[in-house]
Amino acid sequence: MNNLLTKLQELTTELNICPGQVNTIAHNFRQTMLDGLRGKHSPLQMLPSYLHTPSQNEIGTFLTLDFGGTNVRVLLTELLGQGKFIIHAHVSKRLKDTNAHYNYISNQSTADQLFDFIATQIGTVIKPNTNYSLGHTFSFATHQTGLNTGTFVHWTKEIETTGMKGQDINQLLAAALERQHITTVVPAAIINDTVGALLAASYMEQTTDIGSICGTGHNTAYLEPHSPLTNEPMIINMESGNFNQLPFTLYDAELDRASEKPGKQRLEKMVSGHYIGELVRIIACSFFDVGLLDSSPDKKIMETPYLLNGAHLSLFHEDLTVDLSLITDCLENNLHITGSSLDDRKALKTIATLICTRSARLVAATYIGILKHIDPSLKNCHNIAIDGSLYEKMPGYGEEIQKTLTKALGEKGTMVTTSLIKDGSGIGAAIATAIAENMEI
Ligand code: GLC
Repeated sequence: MNNLLTKLQELTTELNICPGQVNTIAHNFRQTMLDGLRGKHSPLQMLPSYLHTPSQNEIGTFLTLDFGGTNVRVLLTELLGQGKFIIHAHVSKRLKDTNAHYNYISNQSTADQLFDFIATQIGTVIKPNTNYSLGHTFSFATHQTGLNTGTFVHWTKEIETTGMKGQDINQLLAAALERQHITTVVPAAIINDTVGALLAASYMEQTTDIGSICGTGHNTAYLEPHSPLTNEPMIINMESGNFNQLPFTLYDAELDRASEKPGKQRLEKMVSGHYIGELVRIIACSFFDVGLLDSSPDKKIMETPYLLNGAHLSLFHEDLTVDLSLITDCLENNLHITGSSLDDRKALKTIATLICTRSARLVAATYIGILKHIDPSLKNCHNIAIDGSLYEKMPGYGEEIQKTLTKALGEKGTMVTTSLIKDGSGIGAAIATAIAENMEI
């Protein structure tokens, strides 16, 4: 057997998450949740949202702002009750556009510049002489002291805009709206995107009590039956991307070392769209010494950090052509790496598949940890609502999550469903605003 094949076999063992590990991770995750809830030192921040799941009677028309780190999206959403809604207007703008020469997420940009840009986008959606309440989905750790007040904790997903530390997010927004002379928009609620996913999905399907994002970033929120603040049910944003009791490989360590915040967001760095392409790239480079891409004159290009993204991995994973011609196309036309052999492409496909499968199993293990906390003997039905490009677009990703849940939960697995929630941030922020204004049928 050649060296490349031997190394691929070793990698398969290294990246495999077996059922025993799923159980251990789930157990440790649950323990870490408990520590966080009890105020003990924990990688999980367990941030309160000041929200319960919706009654499904929430109605009204609201402006919503979705700030996730890649795009800023402004929606005008009308809630009709009983899970129904209409999106009347929708604007989406990238936060970084090299062609248009701007980048609001680099350390060269300040919070004021970023929020001025956001306020300008809001200005393109609103009509004159109309008042709006705005729900803000801000997809980063925020320490909330109420439904409309949240202090910025720290950036994740490699964002570096300065001047955010300790600032109240909706005050930053209100000040920017004022600078842009927008006087008809009043921020009324702030939520995390995981909370948005949970709210939006439970507006339509009441068994939903877990909301999760598997996209550029990764995080999960759930309905805590006994919130430490009130002893009543409350949705908690766990910031679970920072969970760290995990089977790290040398590749994970290498990615972490070179990242913006070494030691932080270790789960997110193993599972989310922003990082899994980079893991595949790091592994591919470590395979150079067993001949990977040896016949390519451009193999050095593979040494470019963050060359590969989730979309590349989807393509590697789903190429079922005999000669892996989709991968050839992508390598040559998109990444400018010519001269790959069929063995190279097979290896890249295997690495991508292994990383994606590991991601889905790790995420599923955390869901099991949550389920064991909220309903240890699984007496009730639970729906886990998931938003994000990985879950939506990566072939086989959702199935792998479901398979892992079913295997670990045995016959009780039928009590647990997973479902895609699209636009959860927009709909969820509208629901949160309706709750803030107590607007029900
Ligand atoms: C990052 C953020 C978190 C967000 C997640 C998904 O992990 O810290 O708040 O929910 O990305 O967007």
